[in-house]
Amino acid sequence: MLSPSTDWLPQAPLDPLHLDWLTTAGIEVAILRLDQIDPLISGNKWFKLIEHLKAADQSGAQGIISLGGAHSNHLHALAAAGKRFGFTTVGLLRGHPQETPTVKDLQAFGMHLHWLGYGGYRARHEPGFWAPWREQYPELHPVPEGGGGLLGAKGCGQLVTLAREQLSGLGWSNYDGWWLACGTGTTLAGLVLAEAGEHPVYGALAVPDDHGVAQQVEMIVQEAGLIDPGYELLAASRGGFAKVDPPLLAFIEQTEQASGIPLEPLYTGKALLALKQQVEAGKFARGTRLVFIHTGGLQGRRGFSSR
Ligand SMILES: Cc1ncc(COP(=O)(O)O)c(C=O)c1O
Repeated sequence: MLSPSTDWLPQAPLDPLHLDWLTTAGIEVAILRLDQIDPLISGNKWFKLIEHLKAADQSGAQGIISLGGAHSNHLHALAAAGKRFGFTTVGLLRGHPQETPTVKDLQAFGMHLHWLGYGGYRARHEPGFWAPWREQYPELHPVPEGGGGLLGAKGCGQLVTLAREQLSGLGWSNYDGWWLACGTGTTLAGLVLAEAGEHPVYGALAVPDDHGVAQQVEMIVQEAGLIDPGYELLAASRGGFAKVDPPLLAFIEQTEQASGIPLEPLYTGKALLALKQQVEAGKFARGTRLVFIHTGGLQGRRGFSSR
């Protein structure tokens, strides 16, 4: 039932990113446009779902049940995939019913929604949380919040192949590292596993330290048995998850105008601004070539002003 989805190998262009602060520092950046893999199934979320969908398919499930907030990029990608490939999706939502643009899309994509309240949602890590949902939906496979864990990370390993296949189009024979936004660290962990130390992976944290990204990445890397992982996490949340300030918004506007590439303020905008700060602080030598991942999330922008 889920199998057509597990065969889909989306393409994302790897484009040169020309910005004056990169030129000044002599740094080359190519941007892997995961926001362009599909009009609806966008960003890193699809890659985090791949191995979960395969596991669901192998277990004979008819669909997926998962959780997220009222602006969730994860639920959005999951619901869009369910509609595209014809499998059932159920979403367990944080808080009380509200009509965000994301929620309207989830409904239009045919996802069945349950609102858990705030306390109910907080219980998602408790041992008995899934039991009643498994009972109600025995034919559905549960996927953790955001499509995380080792399975989520493994799917993101494909990003390395996606980028490497396109290096020659840029005239690059190699690259010196990756730069991307981290929310849970799953996508970064996937790159770290696939690179196995070959190229460093720099993660710009879109969340504060107490979200446990470092521990989460460490756990995945250890579970996969990687000895010398080669990654670095850098603070980039600018005061907290989803906190937005005027310099960030001005930077996004200037960058969009200069590059024509749309960014959103929670992940990609913060990650690119953190890169600018590090480049200007001299972190990278002239001639360094980095692959920046555009992790999508543009659908979430619609609801941002109403938060
Ligand atoms: C647009 C976007 N970029 C980046 C991330 C971070 O990905 P990860 O949770 O794998 O670190 C997320 C989700 O958390 C996201 O929605």
